[in-house]
Amino acid sequence: MELKDWATRILSADTPEEKLLAPQELTDINPGLAKFWDIPSRPVGMEFQRHSRKEKLPSLQDHRNKDNRAVCLHRFAGHELLAVEIMAYALLAFPEAPKHFRKGLANTLKEEQEHVKLYIDRLTAMGVTFGDMPLYKHFWSYVPHLKTPSQYVSVMSLTFEMANLDFAPMYRDSFAKHGDIESAKLMNRILEDEISHVSFGYQWLKKLKSETETDWEAWRSNVPDSLPVKRACGFIFQENPRKEAKLPDLWIDEMKKSKIFN
Ligand SMILES: [Fe+2]
Ligand SMILES: [Fe+2]
Repeated sequence: MELKDWATRILSADTPEEKLLAPQELTDINPGLAKFWDIPSRPVGMEFQRHSRKEKLPSLQDHRNKDNRAVCLHRFAGHELLAVEIMAYALLAFPEAPKHFRKGLANTLKEEQEHVKLYIDRLTAMGVTFGDMPLYKHFWSYVPHLKTPSQYVSVMSLTFEMANLDFAPMYRDSFAKHGDIESAKLMNRILEDEISHVSFGYQWLKKLKSETETDWEAWRSNVPDSLPVKRACGFIFQENPRKEAKLPDLWIDEMKKSKIFN
């Protein structure tokens, strides 16, 4: 199946199976013209809901209760589905991006589909069906800012996926502390994949940026003002996963400084 047909099917899917369709063989012979998808279709019961303050995630000490842990996992499953859809959007939006970039993007999309499945399996084991709780537009609201591959990697890989380098270990450790080893293992698997997704974004930012700007300048100039540096961080800043993602020390130091002063 061609990448553009696959991406179109994901964005217009009205069943969970179609959202998670992952053909063995994918080709990219005819990427077509750039298409900036407005809003993804959603299966019944999985549509975007309005976010209200009441829907704050349970705090870490509330993780002793299984239902609260399930609320967190359901929210994360929703984030993974959004990542699937945003990557499908990028495949359609950037037909002229280097083939190697598109291939890497398609591989990452498949991993995000795998993440959705892993969360669904864990939720099922906890007695919750994906779609039982509200799902939000969240990351998709930034899609209008994604008009170039550099903007895509800066917002998706280097901001949202980067923040998960802090959030995933925080939830992993908290779930483990409350005896939920299966959920902790899942968060660790997500962290490992996220490290490679951040690395993909950073490698491509370096390739795509102009020689006159630093990596950091390129990142900041490609994200909207509504995404300050702190949006690429969680509550507890983790240096090691960023090093594993091959971010240079300069970048990590700059992040730490910005996090403190913002
Ligand atoms: Fe993911
Ligand atoms: Fe990811």
